[in-house]
Amino acid sequence: MSHLASEQDKAAAAGPLGVYVHVPFCASTCDFCAFYQTKPTVGAIESFLAGVDEETKLVKWHRPATTMFWGGGTPGMLAPRDLARLAALVRAASGGAPAEWTVELAPSSVTAERLAVLRHAGVTRVSMGVQSFQPALLDGLGRQHTPVQVYRAYERVRAAGFASVNLDLMFALPGQTAAEWAADVQEAVRLAPDHLSTYCLTFEEDTALWVKLSQGRVKLDPEHEARLYESTWAQLAAAGYAQYEVSNFARPGHVCRHNLNTWHMQEWVGLGPSAASQHDGWRGANVSDLDQWRAQLSRGERATEDRVALTPALLAEDAMIFGLRLNAGVDVAAWRARCPEAPWPAVEVLLARCVAEGLAVQEDSRVRLTDRGRLLADSVGAEVMEAFQPPILA
Ligand SMILES: C[S@@+](CC[C@H](N)C(=O)[O-])C[C@H]1O[C@@H](n2cnc3c(N)ncnc32)[C@H](O)[C@@H]1O
Ligand code: SF4
Repeated sequence: MSHLASEQDKAAAAGPLGVYVHVPFCASTCDFCAFYQTKPTVGAIESFLAGVDEETKLVKWHRPATTMFWGGGTPGMLAPRDLARLAALVRAASGGAPAEWTVELAPSSVTAERLAVLRHAGVTRVSMGVQSFQPALLDGLGRQHTPVQVYRAYERVRAAGFASVNLDLMFALPGQTAAEWAADVQEAVRLAPDHLSTYCLTFEEDTALWVKLSQGRVKLDPEHEARLYESTWAQLAAAGYAQYEVSNFARPGHVCRHNLNTWHMQEWVGLGPSAASQHDGWRGANVSDLDQWRAQLSRGERATEDRVALTPALLAEDAMIFGLRLNAGVDVAAWRARCPEAPWPAVEVLLARCVAEGLAVQEDSRVRLTDRGRLLADSVGAEVMEAFQPPILA
């Protein structure tokens, strides 16, 4: 066997490797968003690009990346030459252009020139934050784009010829009726993207919408939310989009492999301020501050906070939580074999209760949530977490 073939075999045995790059720039802050971002000044962009270069040199790259995801923030805030520079340096560090490479773009940042640079670099997938097609709802979210910009951006993305295009939509927005949500889903389907992510609005601490919620200016309505969830699933199934995760739907061959790999507890390297990593035996997130991240990198250290060792028990816990959010469910026996010392009796009791209550079904060693269970995925996840906690000794 040649040296190259044996290296490739070793890489395949170690599983897929993802790279996540957090591009922390936005023109303004949307009222719902808690992702770390800052203003894209010339100095900040230069510091970010130099920092990513430094960070890639501190990563232990054991094998080439199989997927890459640029999120944010809005990577589209970078000028075409800066996109090209970022692409070249990350690609060189991580072993070339991966099979799947997603870039998130806000509609207002989509230009033919930026798209051409991304295509040329090897990007295969564009994900665009649409949120809604209705001006009043977009205003209520503090979004900068108009529906017309969405249509123009989508046309440009399609014309550029990416293999896969995702649109993000949000529901349970303040004042949004069921009919308005159905119209948004219908309009997204009419554009015929390959993938759709539909997120239920969460009120993240310290966002403008969270302030409104705490002042009683907007209200939560879990029953309305549940009705919107269910209507989405039916509408998208009828349009040929298969649900594969609580918030994600795809046409055949278009699931996001990068996200699936992270939910299956594979490894990924996170680059940029606030980016999380799960790699090389540890998990942690970079500091959410461009200057601090950069300062630490210039001292030759990665700026990761909350580093924890990746124990089999930690991986098993998260494999259960994220696996139950997948329509395919999770292979409990496989994880039990991989991590026999985890508190499986407590987990089995919980899963049996979920099955008895009609929230989950078990087929051989695989457990998956039913439609009713998927509506309660967050609370099931919280209970799984509890089951994995060591008992408090008196
Ligand atoms: C990290 S954001 C970046 C996308 C890109 N910057 C844009 O806005 O077009 C990815 C997606 O997460 C979703 N999202 C962000 N904050 C959310 C929240 N608080 N509740 C629900 N969905 C949210 C939005 O749909 C958004 O498009
Ligand atoms: S949703 Fe996107 S554009 Fe809006 S603040 Fe968050 S990252 Fe920036």
